[in-house]
Amino acid sequence: MERRVYLKDEDIPKYWYNVKADLPFSFDPPLDPETNRPMEPEKLGAIFPKQLIEQEMTLEREIPIPREVREAYSIYRPTPLVRAARFERVLNTPAHIYYKNESVSPTGSHKLNTAIAQAYFSKVEGVTKLSTETGAGQWGSALAYATEILDMDVEVFMVKVSLEQKPFRRCMVNFFGGRIHPSPSSLTENGKMFLSKDPNTTGSLGMAISEAVEFAFKSKNVNYSLGSVLDHVLLHQTIIGEETKKQMDIVGEEPDVLLGCFGGGSNFGGFTLPFMPEKLKNDKLEIVACEPIACPSLTKGEYRYDYGDSAGLTPLLKMYTLGKDFVPPPIHAGGLRYHGAAPIISRLIHEGLVKAIAIDQKEAFDAAKLFGIAEGIIPAPETSHAIAGVIRYAKESAQTGEKKVIVFNLSGHGLLDLNAYA
Ligand SMILES: Cc1ncc(COP(=O)(O)O)c(C=O)c1O
Repeated sequence: MERRVYLKDEDIPKYWYNVKADLPFSFDPPLDPETNRPMEPEKLGAIFPKQLIEQEMTLEREIPIPREVREAYSIYRPTPLVRAARFERVLNTPAHIYYKNESVSPTGSHKLNTAIAQAYFSKVEGVTKLSTETGAGQWGSALAYATEILDMDVEVFMVKVSLEQKPFRRCMVNFFGGRIHPSPSSLTENGKMFLSKDPNTTGSLGMAISEAVEFAFKSKNVNYSLGSVLDHVLLHQTIIGEETKKQMDIVGEEPDVLLGCFGGGSNFGGFTLPFMPEKLKNDKLEIVACEPIACPSLTKGEYRYDYGDSAGLTPLLKMYTLGKDFVPPPIHAGGLRYHGAAPIISRLIHEGLVKAIAIDQKEAFDAAKLFGIAEGIIPAPETSHAIAGVIRYAKESAQTGEKKVIVFNLSGHGLLDLNAYA
């Protein structure tokens, strides 16, 4: 067979897939932090465009992707699905391993799939600027690129320790016309509050979200944009899984195991949710989220309502959480340092439809090196957690002799994370 399965431009999906239409249960609504009652959509309108709020609530199965967004996608989509043949040989496994390569996007990760969509929906409402947080900088640079091509501006709050670890992400955000600040910063009241509590804090995604939300609330014509967690973000990412399904059909194999790394849940959800109808019919399909041991929201967190940010500004979401005040250790996978988890994935874990495993940083980097040498791609430290999960399954296959089909999402490359490898 061909090692790479390409789709044609006309195969870029025309709809995002809304898993909520197919699940046999409904979700607990986000709560207003002021009243503890279900959030009024109008209130979200202060910092989110109307169409994204609708996407957050809708139960329609197929959400049309606007023509302008599909055109922007066509620079890098459809992305290839690749059989990791050399990696299989290195692992000496009978398993067939495939990866969906999202690292081919202009900014190096899956994050652009929702960045373009989010910028577009704000732009059509006349908004000229977005504010956002970023962990490892993949999301910040994706939003900088998306706002640049749509003639908008962006203000990025990047977790301080990650900015120190990955200084070239600042160059990339600036290259695409964005402004970037280490978080916590003294630009916002929340930033000052976090700094007064601990002037040497490493920062966290929860703190950076508080700063970006405050910035949007206090500025005119600025919307806030979130890179993960929320239902509409996972929705935009479903384009990954939709393409993967078509590509697996071309290959003529069905996945036994699907894996993705897990920070807030957007690449994992985008890659796996389109397979949920199969999972509901076939319980043997395993869907596995790979999170870091250092920030184990899914494997050690509590399933309850919690704030999405550290200051308690955002709506309360029903999710697995380590608590909004949890500041994870400064691991290199900055994009996985989030205290909570997407409500959709949290519920699927709670229902036993998805499982989670925790991976140590050393195991992740060792896995990245094996894969990188075999396949010629240096993966992002976040992605490496998924690769470590793949190796666990491939080894199990080698032991049992069972030929499993393992498919994972290569969410991003690590070319701006070389300090971590050094
Ligand atoms: C390459 C890459 N993969 C995965 C993630 C984790 O985020 P999510 O769980 O939303 O996909 C990030 C976040 O920054 C990332 O940059």
